[in-house]
Amino acid sequence: MDTRVTVVILAAGLGTRMKSRRAKVLHEAGGRTLVEHAVDTALTLTAPERVFVVIGHQADQVRSAVESLGVQFIQQTEQKGTGHALIAGRGSLEHIGGLLMVYYGDCPLIPATLLAALMDHQNGSGAAATLVTAELEDPTGYGRIIRDAAGTVRAIVEQKAATPEQLAVREANVGIYCFQADPFWKHIDELRPNNPAREYYLTDMIEILIRAGHTIDAFGAGNPMELLGINNRVELAAADRTFRDRKVRELMLGGVTVEKPETVSVDHAVSIGIDTVIEPFAQILGNTKIGEACRVGACSIVRDSELSDGVQVGPFTIINESRVGAGAQVGPYSRLRLDNDVAPGAHIGNFVELKKTRMGAGAKANHLAYLGDSIIGENVNIGAGTITCNYDGRAKHQTKIGKGVFVGSNSTLVAPVEIGDGAYLAAGSVITDPVPPDSLALGRARQVVKENWARKRREKTPAKR
Ligand code: UD1
Ligand code: MG
Repeated sequence: MDTRVTVVILAAGLGTRMKSRRAKVLHEAGGRTLVEHAVDTALTLTAPERVFVVIGHQADQVRSAVESLGVQFIQQTEQKGTGHALIAGRGSLEHIGGLLMVYYGDCPLIPATLLAALMDHQNGSGAAATLVTAELEDPTGYGRIIRDAAGTVRAIVEQKAATPEQLAVREANVGIYCFQADPFWKHIDELRPNNPAREYYLTDMIEILIRAGHTIDAFGAGNPMELLGINNRVELAAADRTFRDRKVRELMLGGVTVEKPETVSVDHAVSIGIDTVIEPFAQILGNTKIGEACRVGACSIVRDSELSDGVQVGPFTIINESRVGAGAQVGPYSRLRLDNDVAPGAHIGNFVELKKTRMGAGAKANHLAYLGDSIIGENVNIGAGTITCNYDGRAKHQTKIGKGVFVGSNSTLVAPVEIGDGAYLAAGSVITDPVPPDSLALGRARQVVKENWARKRREKTPAKR
């Protein structure tokens, strides 16, 4: 018997209760789209060639969210129901034997262990399918599991089609099915849209298979909260919280100190080395890699960035798409806006903004500066208030500052401009021309002192009271 599994994830619907212009499965929890979560779980069971995602609403976006994972797609142009989604995939799926697992793309929390147990159950059962069911306090909206007097599963009845007696049943269909592929495809033609919604219901396959002489097994789910689909933004927020709690817990067990973990948000793909400390309210997002023995200060946001070992990030700092070398210090109150490289041992201080800037090893910009499109050499000292004027109203230009340069406070460097190694720029200079190595550049009006001017003025015009 072929015991391998093919997984079909239904993700063609819009999800009206999200009240969104975006398809439901493209909303994110824990820093990943719902469809990525669903696919990721499937990939713990089988190879990507055997994972099929049914797409329809915003098909291109859903496809691009998961296509890098190597999975297959089924286009369901019109959404005529969950059974119709399988009919749409018939051409790609029918010839694949073994097990056919189906679940919905809006269920990001399904544990892989449950799916593996479901497969084992189905393989040992002799039934044509096993479905996951749960006793719910309030099963409103869910398909109800109808059993006969002997307790054998007979059918799933949808909310809209149920009699009052059936509505009183609290055992619900959570929407995870493991079919034997051969009988499923043999009988799929028997699906009919004869229900109030005029849809082809996947759930009708249960009755159809039973009518054909097969048996159906039910598999009780432990914690239904993990299995139920996300239908609105309240449920989305709850799932997000669950993922973030899991992630932070995993980090702590892996040797990261997280202060007030309930306030910290860490996305799925983030990795953090041992002995790093994450302070309260930090957010570490996207594809971020943080080394060992770092500190990420309170309320800082690090996104799609790489921090090497021993980096110290002060509170209220934003680091975006940048790389920070070992032992460098950034913050408090710094902003690494986009595509910066801060070399080991450099210091970026408060109210300093960097954009597309390379900061050499040991270079310092400790207070109040804007450094854009700049290459800054080793051990440069950028004085407070330094501004690179990288934009002339039409185009961006580069500023190059050689090794060991001292940039006096409140200097304005009008790009494109180059400062040679070891040069000094006098405080308050406007630098428009190249400065050769080891020279001093003064670009400001010479100071004029008029001795006794103030005293004479006081004597001539006494101050009014
Ligand atoms: C479905 C089940 C119900 C179960 C519940 C659990 C059916 C008929 N009913 O109801 O028994 O209790 O899930 O959450 O299956 N989709 C498509 N193409 C379509 C229609 C839907 O891909 O043509 C996708 C949707 O994007 C969604 C999933 O299938 O991800 C479920 O569809 P939905 O309409 O939400 O089914 P429910 O009414 O929740
Ligand atoms: Mg649903």
